[in-house]
Amino acid sequence: MIEVIPLKAFTDNYIWALVSKKSVYVVDPGDPNPVISFLEENDLNLKGILITHHHFDHTGGIKTLVDKFNIPVFGPSGSKIEGISNELKENDSIRIFEQTFKIFEVPGHTLDHIAYYSEDSQKLLFCGDTLFSGGCGRLFEGTPLQMYESLAKLKNLSPDTLVYCTHEYTESNLNFAVVVNNKNEFLKNYHSEVQSKRKNDEITLPSSIGKELKINPFLRLNDENIISNASNFSSSILTKEVDTLKAVREWKDNF
Ligand SMILES: [Fe+2]
Repeated sequence: MIEVIPLKAFTDNYIWALVSKKSVYVVDPGDPNPVISFLEENDLNLKGILITHHHFDHTGGIKTLVDKFNIPVFGPSGSKIEGISNELKENDSIRIFEQTFKIFEVPGHTLDHIAYYSEDSQKLLFCGDTLFSGGCGRLFEGTPLQMYESLAKLKNLSPDTLVYCTHEYTESNLNFAVVVNNKNEFLKNYHSEVQSKRKNDEITLPSSIGKELKINPFLRLNDENIISNASNFSSSILTKEVDTLKAVREWKDNF
């Protein structure tokens, strides 16, 4: 059994710690200090690092942690990230404790972005800045089509897969989602739930694929209400899902 624990970093990042007995792997340690404090406070041993993409708020802790603990660093192949010891590409798999994690290449937010997925006894997805609860990453490097195809890989996973994204963006994503999908009653109720949680500074993650299919406009591109609102926004008749994604992404970027 892997216990997954959030370590807060910067203003709204989560470094996910995968813990089994006294051993730990961390995902996207942008800052080494929350990791080191967590290890010391709980008397745990760091066994490795998983990286999803090259942005500094996901990679900034690699050097300090490797220098201190001499551990392997898994990450995307062909990336400019310094310190990756085990390069991963689509369909590769790695063993973390007793679970196998499959690698998906999910370009869009960045071109090097990968996600880690396990469907063994626990169904877990570490998706970095590709899929957020109620949203998706900004298209800094990739095209709408690349993001569409990346999200398509994730939305087809088992609905009970737990989704561990790297940022606490849920409330701001849902503030937008309730406008673009204003006829979605389930979403409205969930938005209120998230607002109360955030008032108390509670975490809104992990989400699940099943929940995201109900609330996330970027996974609901065949919803007539979203197509109609996005068509109005872009002053065009949107007939393809990828064009709806492009319009919704541009709308969110300026929301
Ligand atoms: Fe990022």
